[in-house]
Order: sequence, then C-alpha cells, then structure tokens
Amino acid sequence: MSALHVIRTVAEMQAASDDMRRAGRRIGLVPTMGYLHEGHQSLIRRIRRDADRVVVSVFVNPTQFGPSEDLASYPRDLSRDIALIAESGGDIVFAPEAEDVYPDGFSTSVSVKGLSGVLDGASRPGHFDGVATVVAKLFACVRPHSAVFGQKDAQQVAVIRRMTADLNMGVEILVCPTVREADGLAKSSRNIYLTPDERSESGVLFQALQAAENHLRAGEADAGDLEAIMVEKIRCHPVAELDYAVVRDAETLGEVKEVRHPALAAVAARFGKSRLIDNLVLFPADRADS
Ligand code: PAJ
Repeated sequence: MSALHVIRTVAEMQAASDDMRRAGRRIGLVPTMGYLHEGHQSLIRRIRRDADRVVVSVFVNPTQFGPSEDLASYPRDLSRDIALIAESGGDIVFAPEAEDVYPDGFSTSVSVKGLSGVLDGASRPGHFDGVATVVAKLFACVRPHSAVFGQKDAQQVAVIRRMTADLNMGVEILVCPTVREADGLAKSSRNIYLTPDERSESGVLFQALQAAENHLRAGEADAGDLEAIMVEKIRCHPVAELDYAVVRDAETLGEVKEVRHPALAAVAARFGKSRLIDNLVLFPADRADS
C-alpha cells in the first residue's frame, strides 16, 4: 500500500481489515487520541517493523474522561496528525466519530478488576474501564495481529495485557520506551497546557524517579525508603501538587516491601490544571547494568 488511507467509519474499517486478512497481511495497530508527538511516532515506527499494514487510530475517547476532566478542550488536529502518521510509516488512519463508536443504546463496559482501581484509577474513577472498553472495541474494528502501547502509561499497559489475556483476544501486545524532552519530562499531548513556570518545574518528576534509581543502585532496596526519596524531591517544588510516588510490582501493581525483582517506580502530580504521570522500571542492584 503506498498512499495513506483515511477511514472514518467502523463498517469501512472492518471491511478493510477483512480484505487485509484475506490477503494474508499482518496488521499492526497503534491506538491514539491524536495530537501526535514523537512518543506516538516511536510507536508507529516500532510496529512498522512487526506488521505489513500499520493502522493508527485517532479517537478522543469520551468514556475515559471524568466529568470534570478535559474532554472538550483535549487538543485535536486531524490534518496535522495525518501528515505525521504518513511521515512515520502508517498505512491507514482510523478516525471514527463518537456516535459511530458509541451508538444510542450502547451498554457494555470492560472492567479489569483490581488493576483499574489503584494509582491513576483511584484518582480517576472509571478511567481504565473507559480505556479497556475502547481498546477492546478498537481490536474488534481493526482485528490487528499486534498492537503497541507506550511504557509512559504503565498502568494502561498492565490493564490491556490483562484484558487481552483474560478475553483470549489473540492480539500480541508490544511496549515502547518513554520518549522524553531534554530535561526528562515525558512527552505528552497535554504538556501544551503547562504555563512556562509549570513547564520549567515539571522535570522534577523524572528527577525523582532517577533519584530512586540511583539510591537502588547504591544498595537501598527498601520500597518505603525509595518512595520517601521521591516524595521529598517532589515536595521541594511547591508548584507540584503530589498525587502519589510509589514503588510497586510491575505486573500486578501490588505493594512490594523490597526491590528484589524488577519493580515500577511511578509518580503523579498536578501542575496547575495539568495532571502529569511518569514511571521507571527499577531493576534490583545486581541487574542494574544488565
Ligand atoms: P494517547 O495519550 O494519545 O497515547 C497513545 C499511545 O502513545 C499510548 O500507548 C501512550 O502510552 C503512548 N505514549 C504517549 N506518550 C508517550 C511517550 N512520551 N513516549 C512513548 N509513548 C507514549 O493512551 C491513550 O492515548 C489512550 O488511553 C488510548 C490507548 C488511545 C485509548 O483511548
């Protein structure tokens, strides 16, 4: 396929998927909410290596936004996204309307118990049900062989892996490293909301994660102590309103006492109107350089 193809309806997407599967093509999906940046582009380039046909979905999913969240003001620019998707190696842009994805009478929700209620799920009730439901629907529309997600949203990855396994969806889940700005801030479509002051302070999230990693390398494996180091670092920046700074099991997100196996250091804080999240996988000291 040479030219980028833009598909605006669920029915057309399913027909295109049938054609590709019948022709023996391996389909890779990159789910996004648009307003693409280099993080999204790295996902497209990654799945390009895995698939013959790369579908990038652009859909600002209303069901994953809480009533007081930024659904109406979430940045949107489909023509810019289409250009960036073409440049990064996408074949199909799937950009359906909300009424087509959630027609009148829609009443089904996918809920991954346990994983969805902690950390970001505790601060954003219903968020991960919305994510799981829309990703299940995107899988049903595109019928991909593989799909790629960013490590930046580690809890989202855990929820989607669990859902895909539990519901026998048969989609291979790939994960890409977090793409960052020069000062370490994870790239995000929402970073444009930061005031200059908030933007210059926001690098502290990555600094806190790195501080935890450095202390682990120096032999400090107690999860509570590593959490305290991150909290202290973030609290030094009054612009940041801390939500959580934790060390958890990378797969179950359950509490751990010590970092004896790879664990997830995860932070979330509010900077003015924006809530930013970030994480690092911590490897136990004897595996730090492997
Ligand atoms: P969105 O925030 O647009 O992100 C789309 C994908 O890009 C996600 O897998 C996310 O983890 C990844 N991503 C975002 N910033 C990144 C960065 N700095 N480095 C690497 N990857 C990054 O996540 C969503 O949309 C939605 O919840 C979605 C899965 C599309 C369901 O609506």
